[in-house]
Amino acid sequence: MNREEILTRIAEETATCTKCDLHFSRKNSVPGSGPANAEIMFIGEGPGFHENEQGQPFVGAAGRFLDELLNNIGLSREQVFITNVVKCRPPGNRDPQPGELEACDSYLQRQIQTINPKVIVTLGRFSMHKFLPNAKISQAHGQAVRVKGRLVVPFYHPAAALHQPSLRPTVEADFARLPEWIDKAGDIPEYVEKVEPDQDEDKPEQLSLF
Ligand code: URA
Ligand code: SF4
Repeated sequence: MNREEILTRIAEETATCTKCDLHFSRKNSVPGSGPANAEIMFIGEGPGFHENEQGQPFVGAAGRFLDELLNNIGLSREQVFITNVVKCRPPGNRDPQPGELEACDSYLQRQIQTINPKVIVTLGRFSMHKFLPNAKISQAHGQAVRVKGRLVVPFYHPAAALHQPSLRPTVEADFARLPEWIDKAGDIPEYVEKVEPDQDEDKPEQLSLF
């Protein structure tokens, strides 16, 4: 099978997948879209209302904003692969639950392996946590890191800027720097997680009464 065929196979599997409860309420799974040889892969959170209706990622308000952000840096949607950490819509757009993220992970991992993108852009914290499990998005956004050899750039979710307009300039500034990160890809060192010093380290051990 070539890469297109593998991606088609993955998409077909999601359409009939029953590995988590999100399948009960889906109209269409939203496996993702874009060329199999894309250099840049965007990973969002999960389908919303319009995505569930159409089976395509980022076709609602957040998607229009994403298109604008891409166009601002000279990219079109046709050039990038766009997917989500869960392929079926969480009812009412609630957060995906740990079991759902876990159940859906193999589809995402196979997509990454197949496309082998030069850069992965994570949109929102659920997607960021796939690569940087303990990072806080308020600190990690906009900084490229190398994770297991691959360049990962965490961004706020575009929908966050729609809900909280004060975030918009930050989201735009992060996107504006993406071409620079891509150029510098070879110079970004492997991510080392900062371990917070143990707060209790210096406290004397509690005496046991027994
Ligand atoms: N938000 C997401 O995270 N993904 C979509 O596909 C649409 C909105
Ligand atoms: Fe399957 Fe993923 Fe849909 Fe759950 S969200 S039913 S794991 S495709």
